[in-house]
Amino acid sequence: MTRILLLGGTTEASRMAAALAASGLPALFSYAGRTGAPAPQPLPTRIGGFGGVAGLVTFLRAENIGAVIDATHPFAAQMSRNAVAACAETGVPLVALERAPWRAGPGDRWTAVPDIAAAVAALPEAGARVFLAIGKQTLAPFAGKPGNHYLLRLVDPPEGPLPLTDAAAVIARGPFSAEGDSALLRAHDITHVVAKNAGGAGAEAKLIAARALGLGVILIDRPALPPREVCAEVAGVSEWLAAHGFTPRGV
Ligand SMILES: NC(=O)c1ccc[n+]([C@@H]2O[C@H](COP(=O)([O-])OP(=O)(O)OC[C@H]3O[C@@H](n4cnc5c(N)ncnc54)[C@H](OP(=O)(O)O)[C@@H]3O)[C@@H](O)[C@H]2O)c1
Repeated sequence: MTRILLLGGTTEASRMAAALAASGLPALFSYAGRTGAPAPQPLPTRIGGFGGVAGLVTFLRAENIGAVIDATHPFAAQMSRNAVAACAETGVPLVALERAPWRAGPGDRWTAVPDIAAAVAALPEAGARVFLAIGKQTLAPFAGKPGNHYLLRLVDPPEGPLPLTDAAAVIARGPFSAEGDSALLRAHDITHVVAKNAGGAGAEAKLIAARALGLGVILIDRPALPPREVCAEVAGVSEWLAAHGFTPRGV
């Protein structure tokens, strides 16, 4: 039987892995390898890039993959684009497990921006105390506004010097609570929050905290992706799998 490839790195991917393991379907979990100690999964797991579209095409064929579930982060656009291209080339069905984006509600003071450069531009020139909840890979552009103080939240301790001069880092792995994030924002006298519109419950805490404290949020829109099938819930992906011949054992 062919196997399912689950592209991970998110809470949703871990939930999907648990469902696949429970169903007894043959599946392989894939991590990019960005964090030092990725959460263990109840599926056979590989770590590291495939080598672009060509590498993924080779992998899909060599590993006898019959379906791909892209449960990467909504901002992991390169991997998602590669999956669309490689699945189109090999004829392997692809579905994305993707949470809905956050939408502003009463009390929110959000400014939507298209990308990191626009987020930097939306900040004051100086004097702001900014919670940069955007991971470690896209910090450097904020060096263009050196007059602000930056609080970072990172999964692993930084390996080298931070790319920002006036910055502090807290090391923590989600999910986070609104109470905890309120306390963090207050303790650091934060005036602005910069976040990616990732969606999901665990990462929403900072937005709830910002609302409670009346802080402005600069929210970066998701990158555009080629058209693909999308399910917002694990159950929807399971139905999609069944429609593609992957029926749980015992059913
Ligand atoms: N971007 C975010 O804000 C964010 C936030 C939370 C978690 N994550 C997770 O962190 C990982 C990397 O994110 P990113 O934004 O750096 O991705 P990206 O820019 O879309 O991907 C860059 C390259 O990393 C490799 N890669 C990414 N995800 C992979 C996976 N699940 N398995 C194997 N290789 C993978 C691929 O390398 P090759 O081209 O060599 O195949 C891909 O071309 C993803 O698993 C994502 O779910 C990202």
